[in-house]
Amino acid sequence: MTAMTASTGSTVLTELTYRLPQERKIVTDQLPGPASAALAARTAASVARGIAPALSGYVVDADGGVLVDADGNSFIDFASGIAVTSVGASNPAVVAAVQDAVAHFTHTNFTTSPYESYTAVAEKLNEITPGDFDKRTVLLNSGSEAVENAVKIARSFTGRNAVVVMDRAYHGRTNLTMAMTAKNVPYKDGFGPFAPEVYRAPMSFPLHDGLTGPEAAEKTIWQMEKEIGASNLACVVIEPIQGEGGFVVPAEGFLPAIAEWCRANGVVFIADEIQAGMCRSGDWFAVNHEGVVPDLMTTAKGIAGGMPLSAVTGRAEIMDASGPGSLGGTYAGSPIACAAALASMGQMEELDLAGRAREIEAVVREILEPLVAETDGKVAEVRGRGAMMAFEIVDAEGRPDAATVKAIAGACQAKGLLTLTCGLDGNVIRLLPPLVISETLLREGLNVLADAVRAALEA
Ligand SMILES: Cc1ncc(COP(=O)(O)O)c(C=O)c1O
Repeated sequence: MTAMTASTGSTVLTELTYRLPQERKIVTDQLPGPASAALAARTAASVARGIAPALSGYVVDADGGVLVDADGNSFIDFASGIAVTSVGASNPAVVAAVQDAVAHFTHTNFTTSPYESYTAVAEKLNEITPGDFDKRTVLLNSGSEAVENAVKIARSFTGRNAVVVMDRAYHGRTNLTMAMTAKNVPYKDGFGPFAPEVYRAPMSFPLHDGLTGPEAAEKTIWQMEKEIGASNLACVVIEPIQGEGGFVVPAEGFLPAIAEWCRANGVVFIADEIQAGMCRSGDWFAVNHEGVVPDLMTTAKGIAGGMPLSAVTGRAEIMDASGPGSLGGTYAGSPIACAAALASMGQMEELDLAGRAREIEAVVREILEPLVAETDGKVAEVRGRGAMMAFEIVDAEGRPDAATVKAIAGACQAKGLLTLTCGLDGNVIRLLPPLVISETLLREGLNVLADAVRAALEA
């Protein structure tokens, strides 16, 4: 993907070139169209009910900011496969890197027969993550696996067991990460017993707790000290911007205060940057906005342009606490995923995707923020950072309004725009467009969304 000459006028995002037309186009009389409906029938007869796709169309092609379905409908993509395809779903640099890697070897297992790309990804992550100290990285497949490994490493280093996570946290679906995830339905219900020694503490949520960052941190620290005790605590795991929990940006000062307390008490501070990291928030990592330096960081999702890859990166002395053979996995750090990651991170730098994310935020705020006044506060606030933006909907009494959010997401999809919802109460619409989306398509999608909000709230 290449950048073209900078645009003029009110345009803020540099124009890029794409393989597919960047258009919103519904060509079937109804959704899903006949080909996708036939595929949905096959899915219903063959795939477990626990897997529930959001888009009714079955994707056959995707590029830049669009997803094209089996019937030729072209949807604007405000999901990026849940913050994964930041560089685009078929970024040419990623495609070429994957093709080249796969033509040489598909797999060896790094712990059996190593290869350079794994080490190069580790070097790159050690370079771009915050902290001017010696670092090490381990590569895994999924975000959940990275979180599990970060906890394993922190326990091994500290010799302590307890893990603190925040209200509304989401860290994954494996047994340990289910325990760390807050929301019951659909993530945990009926799946217990969960892993022990996981404790939940309050997270700053400016819209609802009305506290400053230091005030919110004081409450969190009080709870950790009284209910667990620092000497029992291996690590605190925090999403610097909460993802599934509602795109909550903690009040300024909260993250630095928790990180400082951890440092003073020998507790490993782990930033889960799986959703917010890799340029999505308008910087390499969301912790950078407040200059917070975590001991360990987990990354995944946007790291490899859609190939499954995750990582734990952090202080060498912590990462090296567990001995040879203690970390790894059959496919962990696959050569295909590593090649894709190197290309993706290259594109992030070449196209300044962090800067582009900040520009996306400006456009999102310009179009969506007026809705707060127009709807008398039923759109409670537009929040987030960079290309990780969301808005929360409440009823006239200020109660969470999940039904309206569902209706808005449905109306958008009928018009050719894919959005996702989130939040413990399901009353948040979140926007995760690919960072390479064109400004025209971004504005078109946001206007479709704003109109759907007005129609649903009769504003
Ligand atoms: C912050 C965070 N941590 C962990 C995970 C789990 O990642 P995965 O679904 O790749 O296991 C997610 C996924 O949404 C996430 O957003």
